[in-house]
Amino acid sequence: MRQRTWAKWSLRRVGKVGARAVVLGSPTVDATDLEVGESFKIWSGHRKTLISGWGRIRIGDRVFVNCGTIIIAVHEIVIGDDVAFANEVYVVDSNSHGTEGRAHVDAPVRIGDGSWLGNRAMILPGVTIGKRVVVAAGAVVTHDVPDDTLVAGNPARVIRGLDYPPGCRRAWHDEWGCHCPKLVAAEVPLGQVDRSAAESA
Ligand SMILES: CC(C)(COP(=O)(O)OP(=O)(O)OC[C@H]1O[C@@H](n2cnc3c(N)ncnc32)[C@H](O)[C@@H]1OP(=O)(O)O)[C@@H](O)C(=O)NCCC(=O)NCCS
Repeated sequence: MRQRTWAKWSLRRVGKVGARAVVLGSPTVDATDLEVGESFKIWSGHRKTLISGWGRIRIGDRVFVNCGTIIIAVHEIVIGDDVAFANEVYVVDSNSHGTEGRAHVDAPVRIGDGSWLGNRAMILPGVTIGKRVVVAAGAVVTHDVPDDTLVAGNPARVIRGLDYPPGCRRAWHDEWGCHCPKLVAAEVPLGQVDRSAAESA
């Protein structure tokens, strides 16, 4: 009950929040056009987590945002379902300042379903990341990333394609709500895996 009250208070400025949000610590979530889906988890510990700006931000179901992640939209940032942000990921859709006297760039950012952004990854304006992508720790993503790939480095380059078992929806796996059939087959205790979703995947 206390947990629910805290989540409600922390996310009070969010236009729409799905069921079962969990908030640990004190993130600043003050974006003015923000909607988040179900089972949203946001942690704010050693570093403040921030979701801000006046742009449109849409976050899907079962998204996890870890400590110190910063998401700032002045235009549009769309995050799919089952996306995980590790510590101190940075997502921004504006350069804020132009170079060589040119107008500055504001361009939408999209992050596909099931993708996992590693510690201190940086996603720059105009980038579309595909589905089930792994963005390695410290990658600076300047260009679009195809589905089912691992990207790393600065600037980020595709390291290799990723192979998932049929029905697997996430590049990141855990025992809490992952629909990965491998975890279901491994008989992770009931209640930790949504088996009906796995069976229908
Ligand atoms: C990407 C990652 C998951 C490793 O995946 P993997 O499939 O085991 O990949 P490998 O370790 O086989 O690495 C493949 C290649 O990518 C390179 N690589 C891996 N991670 C890299 C990184 N962060 N930056 C640059 N290159 C990287 C490796 O050096 C290797 O290159 P090589 O083939 O020339 O030797 C891991 O390196 C990583 O970045 N983890 C994120 C950790 C994190 O954020 N945890 C928080 C969880 S909430």
